[in-house]
Formats: sequence, structure tokens, C-alpha cells
Amino acid sequence: MNFFLLPSLTLLNFSYNGLAGKIPLQICTLSRLTSLDLSSNSLTSELPPCVQNLTRLQILDISGNYISGSIPPEIGNLRSLSDLNLGGNQLNGSIPPEIGYLRSLTDLYLGGNQLGGSIPPEIGNLRSLTDLDLGGNQLGGSIPPEIGNLRSLTDLYLGGNQLGGSIPPEIGNLASLIGLFFEENQLGGSITPEIGNLRTLTELDLGGNQLGGSIPPEIGNLTSLTYLDFGGNQLNGSIPPEIWNLMSLIHLYLAWNQLSGSIPLKIRNLTSLTNLHLGGNQLSGSIPPEIGNLTSLTNLYLGGNQLSGSIPPEIGNLTSLTNLDLGKNQLGGSIPLEIWNLRSLTDLDLGGNKLGGSIPQKIGNLRSLTDLNLGGNQLHGSIPLEIGNLTSLTHLYLQENKLGGSIPPKIGNLTSLIYLYLQGNKLGGSIPPEIGNLRSLTYLYLQGNQLSGSIPSEIRNLMSLTDLDLRGNQLNGSIPPEIGNLTSLTYLHLQENKLDGCIPSQIGNLESLVNLNLSENRIDCAIP
Ligand SMILES: *[C@@H]1O[C@H](CO)[C@@H](O)[C@H](O)[C@H]1NC(C)=O
Ligand SMILES: *[C@@H]1O[C@H](CO)[C@@H](O)[C@H](O)[C@H]1NC(C)=O
Ligand SMILES: *[C@@H]1O[C@H](CO)[C@@H](O)[C@H](O)[C@H]1NC(C)=O
Ligand SMILES: *[C@@H]1O[C@H](CO)[C@@H](O)[C@H](O)[C@H]1NC(C)=O
Ligand SMILES: *[C@@H]1O[C@H](CO)[C@@H](O)[C@H](O)[C@H]1NC(C)=O
Ligand SMILES: *[C@@H]1O[C@H](CO)[C@@H](O)[C@H](O)[C@H]1NC(C)=O
Ligand SMILES: *[C@@H]1O[C@H](CO)[C@@H](O)[C@H](O)[C@H]1NC(C)=O
Ligand SMILES: *[C@@H]1O[C@H](CO)[C@@H](O)[C@H](O)[C@H]1NC(C)=O
Ligand SMILES: *[C@@H]1O[C@H](CO)[C@@H](O)[C@H](O)[C@H]1NC(C)=O
Ligand SMILES: *[C@@H]1O[C@H](CO)[C@@H](O)[C@H](O)[C@H]1NC(C)=O
Ligand SMILES: *[C@@H]1O[C@H](CO)[C@@H](O)[C@H](O)[C@H]1NC(C)=O
Ligand SMILES: *[C@@H]1O[C@H](CO)[C@@H](O)[C@H](O)[C@H]1NC(C)=O
Repeated sequence: MNFFLLPSLTLLNFSYNGLAGKIPLQICTLSRLTSLDLSSNSLTSELPPCVQNLTRLQILDISGNYISGSIPPEIGNLRSLSDLNLGGNQLNGSIPPEIGYLRSLTDLYLGGNQLGGSIPPEIGNLRSLTDLDLGGNQLGGSIPPEIGNLRSLTDLYLGGNQLGGSIPPEIGNLASLIGLFFEENQLGGSITPEIGNLRTLTELDLGGNQLGGSIPPEIGNLTSLTYLDFGGNQLNGSIPPEIWNLMSLIHLYLAWNQLSGSIPLKIRNLTSLTNLHLGGNQLSGSIPPEIGNLTSLTNLYLGGNQLSGSIPPEIGNLTSLTNLDLGKNQLGGSIPLEIWNLRSLTDLDLGGNKLGGSIPQKIGNLRSLTDLNLGGNQLHGSIPLEIGNLTSLTHLYLQENKLGGSIPPKIGNLTSLIYLYLQGNKLGGSIPPEIGNLRSLTYLYLQGNQLSGSIPSEIRNLMSLTDLDLRGNQLNGSIPPEIGNLTSLTYLHLQENKLDGCIPSQIGNLESLVNLNLSENRIDCAIP
């Protein structure tokens, strides 16, 4: 295209095409341009410094290309710019301090590049900025306090960098802020209480940093918050009661910290919550029945704490739940029957507690389940036949309980199963041949039970199996030659059984095998 023929052009929009190659230098001769949009193409090479000639530009959008090299300092000449978007390219080097000359800027997007160095303090001169996105780069150093001058900011995104130091208290000056995103950096120190001044904030994400100390009670002043993420830090002390006044909260993530204390019954007021993640802390006490009032919840993660007492039946009121994780606590009593009414559940983790009682037939209700973990409890009784109704299951963990009876043949209906962990129970009877229907199975752990009879030849169908552990049972008969069909096996443990006869020569087909143990059986032939 011959740009020289279009000297009067003011607006040029080539966005969302398939343009490739370099940005042509002739574009810099379009001196009347006020808007240049080349976004979402496949442009490569560098941003030419001659764009400084386009002094009337108000909008420059080159986002979503493959522009490399550094941001030319000459960009500081474009004093009319209100909207500069270079996001989603491969820009490197540091942000030129000259960017501080662009005093008309309202929107500055440099996110999703490979920009390094630190954030120039000159950015504090851009007093008209409403949107600042520097996220997803490799920016280091600390957040300059000058950022507190940007009093018109509504959205500040610095997530996904390598920013260190602590959060400057000046952040509390950004009285128009609606979204503050500092997640996935290396920010330390404690959360500055000045954040409590940001009255209009609806989204606050400080997750995945190294923030310590306790959560400042001033957070309770942010009554418009819908999204609060402090997960994956080193926060300690108890959750300040003021948090439970934030009635607009939809997402609350405080997981993976060192928070202690108990979950108060005040939690019942947060009726808009859909996601509550408090897992991986040191919370103690019992789960308040009032949690049953949070009927919008779809995800409830309380796993990996020190919660005790029994599971309140009111959890059964949370009929929208898809994920329920109460695992790795010290919960006792039996699993309330109401849990088995939660028909939307896809993931249920109650593993690693002290739960007793038996698994009811009602388990057959939970047809959407893909992951079920009841392992590491004190469950007794037998595995109900209705387990065979859970045909979406990919992970079934019932290990390390006191389950008796035999393995129901209907387990063969769970044809999506990848992991089947039944080890460390008191299961008797023989291994049902239907197990051969589980063609996706990669891990089959039945060790440490009281299984008898012979190994069914149908196991030959388990072509994806990598780990087979049948050790410590009372299996008899000889090792079926079909074992040689399990060509993905890396781990085969059959020791401590009553297997006799010879080792089938087909075992030599298991070319991926790393760990084979056949000891303590009654095998009495030569090794083939
Ligand atoms: C940019 O402007 C300067 C001075 O006006 C001029 O010398 C130069 O040729 C221009 N560059 C382009 C690529 O048009
Ligand atoms: C920026 O990337 C270019 C290649 O696109 C490379 O030649 C240059 O060394 C990089 N500069 C820095 C500061 O990483
Ligand atoms: C903000 O929160 C603190 C601590 O909860 C409280 O003492 C203070 O009065 C609150 N500020 C305002 C202006 O409400
Ligand atoms: C919280 O951690 C800080 C260090 O980050 C420590 O000084 C303080 O004693 C801890 N508080 C509690 C209650 O553990
Ligand atoms: C719950 O909110 C109501 C107002 O809707 C308030 O009266 C009550 O004190 C709150 N309860 C708790 C325990 O905070
Ligand atoms: C909580 O649920 C109970 C019934 O389970 C109900 O009586 C009570 O009014 C609810 N409280 C709130 C604050 O919604
Ligand atoms: C909540 O659960 C309790 C205990 O299971 C039950 O008595 C109550 O009726 C339920 N409330 C609602 C509103 O479903
Ligand atoms: C389990 O599925 C069978 C049909 O396969 C059905 O007859 C039975 O009612 C189901 N049981 C439960 C508890 O859903
Ligand atoms: C479950 O498996 C049995 C055979 O074990 C089969 O007869 C039955 O049709 C299967 N049911 C479903 C719902 O797949
Ligand atoms: C295996 O043991 C069972 C009893 O558990 C017995 O009935 C069966 O005959 C034995 N089979 C072989 C091949 O030893
Ligand atoms: C099992 O392996 C034998 C050879 O050892 C082979 O003839 C047979 O086709 C294999 N069966 C399956 C189902 O792969
Ligand atoms: C094989 O199993 C026996 C019996 O459980 C055990 O003593 C031995 O250490 C195992 N060998 C290896 C190499 O793991």
C-alpha cells in the first residue's frame, strides 16, 4: 500500500486481519493520523521510532501482535495520546521513563509482554490515567510510591510480574479504584491497612505473593468487594471478624496461608458467596451449621485445616455445590446422609479425616461425580452396589478404611476410572472379572486386603495400567499369562500372596517394567 497517496488520513484501522511482516515506515508519514489501530494481526519486528512523527495521535493500538524489541523512548513525543495499547506482544527491555510525558493518557496497556527492569516512577505523572495494565511481564524492583498520584485510576493491574518490596501505603490515595490486581508477584511485608480507604473497590487480588502478618481489619471497610483473593501468602493470625461483614462478596479466597482461629457463625451473612476457599490453613474448631445458609455456594474448600467435630447436616442445603473439599482435617462422626443429596457435586473430598459409619446406598445419587475421595478414614461396612451408578467417576479413593465385604462387580460399570484405590481395607472374596472393563485405568491398588481366589484373566484388557499392586492378599492359583498384555506396566507388586505354579514367560513382554516383586508366594519353577 502506498501511504504517500493518503496525506489527509486521520483514522486508520486494520485490526483483526491477517497482516504479517513489519510495520512499514511510510506509516509515519501520515502526519494527520489521530487514531492508528493495527491490533490483533501477526505483525513482527520492532515498533519503528519514527512513530514519534505522528504527533496528533490520540489512539495507538498495536496490541495482539508479535512486535519485539523495546519500546522506543521517542514514544514520549506523542503528547496527544490518550490511549496507548501495546499489550500482548513480545516487547522486552524496560519501560522508558519518557512515558511520563504522555500527560493526556487515560489508558495505558503494556501487559502480556516481556518487559523487565522496574516501573519508572515517572508513571506517577500520568494523572489522567484511569486504566493501567503492566501485568504479565517480568517487571522487578518495588512498586513506586508515585503510583499513589494516579487519583483517577479505576483499574490497576500489576499481576504476574516479579515485583518485590512491600505494598506502598500511598496506594490508599487511589480513591477511584475499582479493581486492584497485584497477584503472582513477590510482594512481602504485611498488607498495608491504607487499602481500607479504597471504598469503591470491587475486586482485590493479592494472591500468590509473600505477604505476612495478619489481615488488617480495615479490609472490612471495603463494602463493595465482590472478589477478594489473599490466597497463597504467609498471612497468619485469625481472619478478622470484619471480613464477615462484606456482604457483597461472591469470591473469597484465603487458602494456603497460616490463618488460625475458627470459622465464625457470622459467615451466614455472606449469602452471595459462590466460591469460598479457606483450605490449607490452620483453622480449628468445628464447621458452623450456619454454613448451610450460603446457598449460592458452588465451591467450598475447607480441606487441609485442623477442623474437628462432625460435618453439619446443613451442608446438604447447599444444593448448587459442585466441589466440596473437607479433606485432611480431624472431622469425626459419620458422614451426614444429607451430603448424598448434593446431586450437582463433581468433586467430593472427605479423605484424611476420622469419619466413621458406612457408605450408604444413597451414594448412587451423585451421578455427576468425577472425583470421590473417602480414603484415610474409619469407614466400615461394605462398598454399596450403587457405586456402579457413578459412571462419570475418574478417581475413586476408598483406601485405608475398614471396609469389608467384597468388591462389587458393578465397579466394572465405572468405565471412565483412571485411579482405583481400595488398598488397606478388609475386602474379601475374589477380584471380580468385571474389573477388566475399566479400560482407562492406570492405577489399580488393591494391596493389603483379604482378597482370595485367582487373578482374573480379564485384566488383559487394562492396556493403560501402569501400576498394579495386589500385594498382601490371599490370592492363589498361578499368575495368568495375560499379565503379559499389560504392556504399559511399570510397577507390578504381587508379593505376599499364595500364588503358585510358574512365572508365565509372557511377563517378558512388559518392557516398561521398572519395579517387579513376586516374593513370598509359592512359585516353584525356574525364572523364565
Ligand atoms: C519524521 O520527521 C522528521 C522531521 O520532521 C523527518 O526528517 C523524517 O523523515 C520523518 N520520518 C519519517 C519516516 O517520515
Ligand atoms: C530483546 O529481544 C531481542 C530479540 O527480539 C534481543 O535481540 C534483545 O537482546 C532483547 N533485549 C533484552 C534487553 O532482553
Ligand atoms: C475502617 O476500619 C477500621 C477497622 O475496622 C475502623 O476502625 C474505621 O473506623 C473504619 N473507617 C471508616 C472510615 O469507616
Ligand atoms: C505472624 O507472622 C509474623 C512474621 O511474619 C510474626 O512476627 C508474628 O508473631 C506472627 N503472628 C502469629 C499470631 O503467629
Ligand atoms: C447479619 O446481617 C444482618 C443485616 O442484614 C445484621 O443485622 C446481623 O447483625 C448480621 N449478623 C451477624 C452475625 O453479623
Ligand atoms: C439460615 O438458615 C436457617 C435454616 O437453615 C434459617 O432459619 C435462617 O433464617 C437462616 N439465616 C439467615 C441469616 O439467612
Ligand atoms: C437445612 O438443613 C437442615 C438440616 O439438614 C434442615 O433441617 C433444614 O430444613 C434445611 N433448611 C433449608 C432451608 O433447606
Ligand atoms: C442405580 O442405577 C440403577 C440402574 O442401573 C437403578 O435401578 C437404581 O435405582 C440406581 N440407584 C440409585 C441409588 O441411584
Ligand atoms: C453395569 O454392568 C452390568 C454388568 O456388570 C451390566 O449388565 C449393566 O448393563 C451395566 N449398567 C450400566 C448402567 O451400564
Ligand atoms: C484358591 O482358594 C480357594 C479358597 O479361597 C479355593 O476354593 C480354590 O480351590 C483355590 N484355587 C486354587 C487354584 O488353588
Ligand atoms: C495378549 O497378548 C498375546 C500375546 O502374548 C496376543 O496374542 C493377544 O492378542 C493379546 N491380547 C490383547 C487383547 O491384546
Ligand atoms: C519385595 O517384597 C518383600 C515382601 O513384602 C519385601 O520384603 C521386599 O523388601 C520387597 N523387595 C523390594 C525390592 O522391594
